[in-house]
Amino acid sequence: MVTRTTQGTEKSAKAGAYGDEETRPQRVSRNPQRTHAMILDAATEEFAAHGFGGARVDAIAARAQTNKRMLYHYFGDKEGLYVAVLEATYAAIRSAEKNLDLTHRNPEEGMRELALFTWHHFLDHPEFLSLLVTENLHEARYLKRSDKILAMHSHFIGELARYGDRVTLWPEDTRGMLPLDEILSSPSDGVFIYCCGPEGLLTATERQCAAWPVGALHVERFAAKPQPEAAVGGDSAFEVVCRRSGVTVMVPPDKSIIEVLEENGVSVLSSCLEGVCGTCETAVLAGTPDHRDSLLTQEERETNEYMMVCVGRALSDRLELDL
Ligand code: FES
Repeated sequence: MVTRTTQGTEKSAKAGAYGDEETRPQRVSRNPQRTHAMILDAATEEFAAHGFGGARVDAIAARAQTNKRMLYHYFGDKEGLYVAVLEATYAAIRSAEKNLDLTHRNPEEGMRELALFTWHHFLDHPEFLSLLVTENLHEARYLKRSDKILAMHSHFIGELARYGDRVTLWPEDTRGMLPLDEILSSPSDGVFIYCCGPEGLLTATERQCAAWPVGALHVERFAAKPQPEAAVGGDSAFEVVCRRSGVTVMVPPDKSIIEVLEENGVSVLSSCLEGVCGTCETAVLAGTPDHRDSLLTQEERETNEYMMVCVGRALSDRLELDL
């Protein structure tokens, strides 16, 4: 028996018409939504790995198991695809953000929750971080072309409207740089400053807050703070004693404390390995650390009570740690 499909092709209704069931050609069903999603996934990986300039359209098509024609059909051109990838990655973080209950928290807790959420999102989605780095290099050239991304930010901005004149929005492209010298001109008790953004803003805020009470300023970094040049002759070796585990190791100039400890069976919780997140913070029981992290304040550094062993070294010949 022969039936006619809706596409007008003829095929046998009998399972054995091509011989065994396994040898019958599979009918490839077209699913535009799935193809669209597969192209976006493949493009996200390619752009995250190679940036806008280095990403190859044919590699994206191959990874998405489609052809370049389909890619241009859905997204117009490489730039259109790149903007769509940015929109999709921003949509993911903004949609997850909506689950945060920030409005019922006090400001400090709310800011902490938002910062922690953002940090964890970056850790869980390294591709988003790579895309942000690329866009930073482009000075947000492609981000600015998307109205959708602007609209996503508006939701969060709308949440702030309930605070009236207690909140001031300062878009740099229309109002210029934040006047930090005016905003932070005089230290005030009970006022806390939370700052997150590009390194230039963080450094300027730290400089401006030098005379503020200890603990007033909180900065959130996603990349290591530039550190002073190493001493002439480079780093030197030093001894580390782990008092609790009874292990003593020698840290050579070309290795970090955490690397040598791991090699010798002393495990330390870590995450960023850049002195940014604070996961590896360790109590110092004796000796003088050479702090190279981006977290401890000057006052905390001077107490020498704690150090980040992923980047910190020693100014003394020997360090004794609570490990
Ligand atoms: S692992 Fe993040 S500060 Fe050390």
